[in-house]
Amino acid sequence: MSKIFTPAALLGFALFGAASIAFAEPVTYDLPEETAVLKPGPGLETARSNCLACHSADYVAMQPPKRGKAFWDGEVTKMIKTYGAPITEADAKVIADYLAQTY
Ligand code: HEC
Repeated sequence: MSKIFTPAALLGFALFGAASIAFAEPVTYDLPEETAVLKPGPGLETARSNCLACHSADYVAMQPPKRGKAFWDGEVTKMIKTYGAPITEADAKVIADYLAQTY
């Protein structure tokens, strides 16, 4: 089965690929508002460089607002202890403060 299919699939892909390059036209469309960025606030840079290595800022943004310092302390600790995020204690504190104030 795969012996018959593979060359055909490759040929189809090659033709389609060539065609889509030959007929490529610029496409413009409106992007939805960017949500996958962290909100501005004191400590943003620290959060940005430590928290976006594994996942997007949506993980932070989708948490219910005003959960407070204890919640964010817990989140940051969980990222470090459970998921192995390499974040120093000093940075963790800055980030938890930033998140508690900003989100
Ligand atoms: C080492 C990788 C890594 C880093 C760095 C990291 N996270 Fe996560 N984070 C994860 C994983 C894995 C999950 C769980 C993903 C899932 O459940 O789909 C997660 C989930 C989350 C969630 C969703 C709620 C939850 O508890 O599962 C939040 C909020 C979050 N991270 C915030 C942060 C913040 C804030 C930082 C910076 C301090 C951070 N993350 C850094 C790996 C990381």
